Amino acid sequence: MTAVGIDAIEIHAGKLKLDLAETFAPAKNESPEKYTKGLGLAASSFPDTYEDIVTMGANAAHRLMERRGLTPQDIGRIDVATESSFDNSKPVSTYIAGCLEQVYDGDFHHANKGERKFACISGTQSLDDAYNWIRAGRNRGRSALVVATDTALYARGDAGEATQGAGAVAMLISENPRLLELSTEQGYGSADETDFLKPNQQFPSVDGKRSVQVYLARMREALEDFESVAGDTHPDDFVLGPFHTPFPGMVRKAALLAYRHMIRDTEIEERLADEVGRQPRPEAFDSDEEYVEAMGDYTDLLKETSDYQNWYDATIAPTLEISREVGNWYTGSVHIARASGLKHALEEGMDLTGERLLVGSYGSGAQAEIHAETLQDEWEEEIAALTIDEQIASRRDITYEEYEHVHDVHNHDKQADDVEEFTTPDAEFVFEGWGRMGER
Ligand code: HMG
Repeated sequence: MTAVGIDAIEIHAGKLKLDLAETFAPAKNESPEKYTKGLGLAASSFPDTYEDIVTMGANAAHRLMERRGLTPQDIGRIDVATESSFDNSKPVSTYIAGCLEQVYDGDFHHANKGERKFACISGTQSLDDAYNWIRAGRNRGRSALVVATDTALYARGDAGEATQGAGAVAMLISENPRLLELSTEQGYGSADETDFLKPNQQFPSVDGKRSVQVYLARMREALEDFESVAGDTHPDDFVLGPFHTPFPGMVRKAALLAYRHMIRDTEIEERLADEVGRQPRPEAFDSDEEYVEAMGDYTDLLKETSDYQNWYDATIAPTLEISREVGNWYTGSVHIARASGLKHALEEGMDLTGERLLVGSYGSGAQAEIHAETLQDEWEEEIAALTIDEQIASRRDITYEEYEHVHDVHNHDKQADDVEEFTTPDAEFVFEGWGRMGER
């Protein structure tokens, strides 16, 4: 069967930086360690006033098309995944196509365009749609462009405010991809939940503590469902485990849950039995409460073992390096986690062709999805082309007062006048007022 998967990837980070330890924590009268250690975040990438989900998505897509020498005729489908949409009728992909048509001779009239919504997981769902479109033989030799773009903003004073971020990830989905093949097998954990939602409102209503529990519950279900089609997973099967990363502390919890699940009935559980005991099994307890308590004790011990720590350092920690600097990008989040892990592997000179990734996507509302990815021959060239380090380093570090102003502009009062407030870039799409997306 011909491989289908991600052929190319480009990332666009918001142009401003909100430093959590230096700027945010003092303004909130909080200890910097709450953010840097507790949540595991150093900064947010914040959108400048001339940026929005369209300009960020168009800039990522444009860079991808330029680098790969593509024309609109090469792309048969444009799907945008976002939960920051401003239009209840026209999909954001039409706005992005409109931007791109300003700089290419051809147009995208032949391309099927849409917008996918299911909180953060819709980025991965759009990959699935593209995969299915190609597998069904409907693509006429063309590739799909998937853009995950969000301004992840919370109300000021909300506990989620520290986890904000903004950016876009553009991905090209093709036959015989250069970067990675997507697995046919997928596992889902999906339930109607109300811990994070935005019913006709600007900011999410969030029960933050509950959202953490829902994430873990759905992820466990998805892993079990994945195993029901792909067979039991083992920690050694995967070189990296990119997970949806609202903040790295969340992934620390998810990774521990996944590891505990994967070592059940394996030689690792056997070997660790002297050190931490055997993993509790529900049937050995009279009540759920006793089982949960015993599992909590076991997990606390497991976390301290060198087996777990070595696995975490190799498989999970590298996926969190970009997220730590940019915050939550909602739909793009799991895709920057993958890029982060692969960038780390490239810098370490690791030969990963043919190796597999275990990818855990998640969206509030709520749904988790697990699939596997296999790295292809040209993964190193693709990852070496990323400019995310330069983008992170060149962001403008804003004061708390500037942050409050930009936050207000984005959420209440976005006007064309604000456009040139900070540094406007050359040769990028910028917001110039509604109905006018300019190129500088
Ligand atoms: P909070 O109340 O600000 O923080 O909310 P906290 O008091 O729970 O502290 C956070 C961690 O920092 C804790 O660690 C503290 O112990 C630690 P943990 O117990 O979790 O391991 N801490 C410190 N550590 C060192 N030194 C210190 C210190 N102080 C505290 N001085 C919360 C945290 C996550 C609830 C909040 O940020 C929030 O509401 N975030 C938004 C919701 C969210 O991100 N949920 C994650 C799961 S849902 C999801 O991922 C979906 C999402 O992306 C949306 C979508 O799908 O569309 C959000």
